[in-house]
Amino acid sequence: MSQTLNTSEPAGPESPDIESAQPNSRRRNIWTLVFSLIALWFINHSLPVYLSLDPNQARIPHLRRDIPWHYPLLVAHVFSGTVALVTVCLQVWPWLRRNHPAVHRWSGRIYVFAGALPSGLLALAIMPFSAGPAGNTVAAVAWLATTVAGLRTARQRRYREHRRWMAYSFALTMQIIWGRVLLIYVLPLFEYNFADPAKLNLALETATWIGFVINLLLAQWWLERTARDTTRR
Ligand code: HEM
Repeated sequence: MSQTLNTSEPAGPESPDIESAQPNSRRRNIWTLVFSLIALWFINHSLPVYLSLDPNQARIPHLRRDIPWHYPLLVAHVFSGTVALVTVCLQVWPWLRRNHPAVHRWSGRIYVFAGALPSGLLALAIMPFSAGPAGNTVAAVAWLATTVAGLRTARQRRYREHRRWMAYSFALTMQIIWGRVLLIYVLPLFEYNFADPAKLNLALETATWIGFVINLLLAQWWLERTARDTTRR
């Protein structure tokens, strides 16, 4: 996970060389490729209709045309979310961190200030009109909080904590994808009745919870496992 957003300073006592302390760098490069391909699939699926800036093409059926700022804020959320997805994949790429730390620092700033923070705040702004408000609100608040904590700990050079917070932030950025997989690929396998409004609502709300719960559990498992590896070494 991201070692630091500010690695220009030499490592202090609380900044173990996390990169070199961890084996399996090759495996992590491969995982980064997998994450990037998944993110590209999602971007290719969701971005083009919003690039048109045409509200008629919006995928959400409940777009509020009587509220003039709903569509622009939704589009801004999608654009900044795309920035977050691309840059977070750069952030977790071990090769880039090791060989081009300056690029890592800059893409980290872009991730925070042009991706996660604006996208999370915009998600909260359009939340009242969303189809799965409960799960989305929890996810948006957690996304903002973990990203801010990751930024703060990097600036204070508390790199162990920074790594932990950015692992959660990464998990929350990528969570958006699993809901779409559920809706587009899994439920149709069971001939799910999306025409029934109650069932549609259930599916949309479930889609918002499923991604971030699974991803946070995976992030926690990964943190514990790599902590054990490091201790053993
Ligand atoms: C924790 C993170 C996120 C939260 C809480 C969140 C929340 C939301 C909310 C509330 C909506 C409106 C849905 C509705 O009105 O029913 C939405 C729509 C959307 N979001 Fe996010 N979002 C997050 C991350 C992202 C990311 C990283 C992307 C990447 C591009 C993204 C792409 C989209 C798209 C494309 C839509 C429009 C709906 C669609 O076309 O499928 N979101 N999001």
